[in-house]
Amino acid sequence: MIDLSEQARMLVVPGKGLLAADESTHTADARLASCGIEPSEEMRRKYRDLFLAAPGIEDFLSGVILFSETLGQSANDGTPFPKLLADKGIAPVVKVDEGTEPISEKSKEVITKGLIGLPERLAPYALEGIGFTKWRGVILIEGDKLPTAHALVENAKRLATYALEVQRAGMVPILEPEVLLEGNHSRLRAKNVITQILKTTFAALHDQAVDISGLIIKTSMALSGSGSGKTDTPEEVAEGTLEALMASVPKQVPGIVFLSGGQTPDQATANLAAITRRARTASAPWPLTFSFARALQEEALAAWKGKDENVPVARTAFVDRLRKVSEALST
Ligand code: 13P
Repeated sequence: MIDLSEQARMLVVPGKGLLAADESTHTADARLASCGIEPSEEMRRKYRDLFLAAPGIEDFLSGVILFSETLGQSANDGTPFPKLLADKGIAPVVKVDEGTEPISEKSKEVITKGLIGLPERLAPYALEGIGFTKWRGVILIEGDKLPTAHALVENAKRLATYALEVQRAGMVPILEPEVLLEGNHSRLRAKNVITQILKTTFAALHDQAVDISGLIIKTSMALSGSGSGKTDTPEEVAEGTLEALMASVPKQVPGIVFLSGGQTPDQATANLAAITRRARTASAPWPLTFSFARALQEEALAAWKGKDENVPVARTAFVDRLRKVSEALST
């Protein structure tokens, strides 16, 4: 019998965190295009190779979240990406949701797809020895109107059903109810919405009798909306974020990881440092770490520009950022 709690704790060991490299094909192509790179399957493979085959990442990464396409691809030297990671002692994590769709006609709010046929999709991953999966829900803030109670409850229910199926398959679920940074809202509003979606998610987990000692929560930081014109200090972010987590996440949860959500690499790093510092002072019950995509990748992508000759300098930028983010966990 697999001890899911022990397995979950492997992702949140001191000094290490996760790289989210699970951009869907559409998002990966957009990232490439924004760096002036013509998207193709081969360029997406090279994009993944840039990060996953970078020397020394195992010093800072406990896991890497992968998109399904990447699972079947190989590094430049022919090693399949999941094996490349496993050989370095880094856990491959698979994104198993299938993106979002409008929650109802004309609604701006979305719900995550992918529950239909989920057990059948999970079975081969478990057989391949994959121990972790991720599911992302998306919560939009618009003034006091959004999110609606309906969006909160439906997203929470799907997160809980996903978690139940993943645990049944013998893997650890990572539940990511992302509260988007986009909007004019205040930091206080973000804090309250993070609290609401996490409380609603734990109520749904309870209803479905999910083992909350065998899962990881991936959350947004409590930040003023990107259109608010306000830049929060790291101390403000830490205060709001810890208040939200303390009010909503039971102490049995083995770990909490943060997404970067569109913050600059420096902002995400400084905010993570302040959050973990405050968590230590407050004796928060869970280990906290990073699970960033953009904040870890941005500088390396800008240096790479899709050119083989730029790979070494781009990888140096990536590993430098990993080092800074890892150091942020204990400074
Ligand atoms: P960002 O760090 O870019 O927000 O991405 C994290 C993630 O996993 C989004 O699903």
